[in-house]
Amino acid sequence: MNPETPDWMGNFLSANQNLVRFDRFMQAALYDPVHGYYSRADRVFGPEGDFVTAPELSSLFGRTLACALREAIKDCGGHIWEFGAGRGLLARDILTELGDEVACYHIVDVSGALQTLQRETLQAGGIDTDARVRWETQLPDTLEGVLIGNEVLDAMPVRLFAWNAGTVCERFVGLSDAAQRTLAWQDLPADDELRHAVESLHRTHGPWPDDYVSEWPEQAIAFVRTITQSLKGIALFVDYGFGACEFYHPQRSTGTLVAHHRHKMSDEVLDRPGEQDITAHVDFSALFEAQHAAGGELLGYTSQAAFLLHNGLLDKLDASFSPARRQAVQMLVNPSEMGELFKVMAWCRGVNPDNWALTRTLAQIDRSRQL
Ligand SMILES: C[S@@+](CC[C@H](N)C(=O)[O-])C[C@H]1O[C@@H](n2cnc3c(N)ncnc32)[C@H](O)[C@@H]1O
Repeated sequence: MNPETPDWMGNFLSANQNLVRFDRFMQAALYDPVHGYYSRADRVFGPEGDFVTAPELSSLFGRTLACALREAIKDCGGHIWEFGAGRGLLARDILTELGDEVACYHIVDVSGALQTLQRETLQAGGIDTDARVRWETQLPDTLEGVLIGNEVLDAMPVRLFAWNAGTVCERFVGLSDAAQRTLAWQDLPADDELRHAVESLHRTHGPWPDDYVSEWPEQAIAFVRTITQSLKGIALFVDYGFGACEFYHPQRSTGTLVAHHRHKMSDEVLDRPGEQDITAHVDFSALFEAQHAAGGELLGYTSQAAFLLHNGLLDKLDASFSPARRQAVQMLVNPSEMGELFKVMAWCRGVNPDNWALTRTLAQIDRSRQL
């Protein structure tokens, strides 16, 4: 188990009667401003860190995304809002590709510690951050622009439930031994909100076996609802996940929650709080419903491979690319790497998307029937 629960987590639990919902544990483990995983920004990303994301693999990811969104950016006043910018590579690549076509690049990141790293990445890439980039701590009433996020939805805390013969429990994290500060799971009856959500999922995707454990992405749903309600533009998010049929399949009986530490994946999400990443796959059906309920119009849902290949990824791969860089591009589109598991979902509100080439491309490769 996890004998070395650090003092800060022990103190966090003590301050909460030694029992917190899993999503609150995950929030603290990832985003505590001092001890949370994302406060140690320099050790998180890249080959030396715990995971590699698409912008870390190749600048062609961001450049392809930039070209696909070019017309939408122009129609939205040149504003881009990136949520969860990591160490700033996607921002650098988009700004490099589009130059003055971007009036302002707004970065919204829940981890304040990453701002320094993002600024360094952008400046090292020759971007005048004072003139072109703004770090935002609050969202305006009207979010005018092109909203993007890569692997941000999977990093949002999830609520965990356990289903047993029609009874829904919620998983909490507590101290099993106050002296040794050992963390342990504890299941308690779900509140009405979680119970209703899970019963509705079960009606559509059950029957589930006993001891069926999975996640409910309350925070990601609220996030999508909030940004869509104030959206005047387009939102496009890339992440690993699938539709609810696959997510809540009876055979996926232990959910999708995992931890990442030094490029190794494990189920021990309570281990080493603050030192390992914790992540869950994205239920894109839930997010589709959230944007729809908030007045969004879906433009398309497809695989990362289809999106990149239909938006000119390979045209950008010229002879100057080394074999290593070509291999990185392969990883982006190979079905057994990121190509199929990663999806792209785009929707708009308050704008007319009919003239954008992106709208036509997304319609051709749309897989939203899987949602
Ligand atoms: C897995 S990292 C991905 C970073 C980057 N987009 C990339 O692809 O390399 C997740 C990022 O999302 C941020 N994040 C998590 N929840 C967020 C939220 N609600 N709003 C904004 N940023 C968030 C984290 O601080 C981190 O920068």
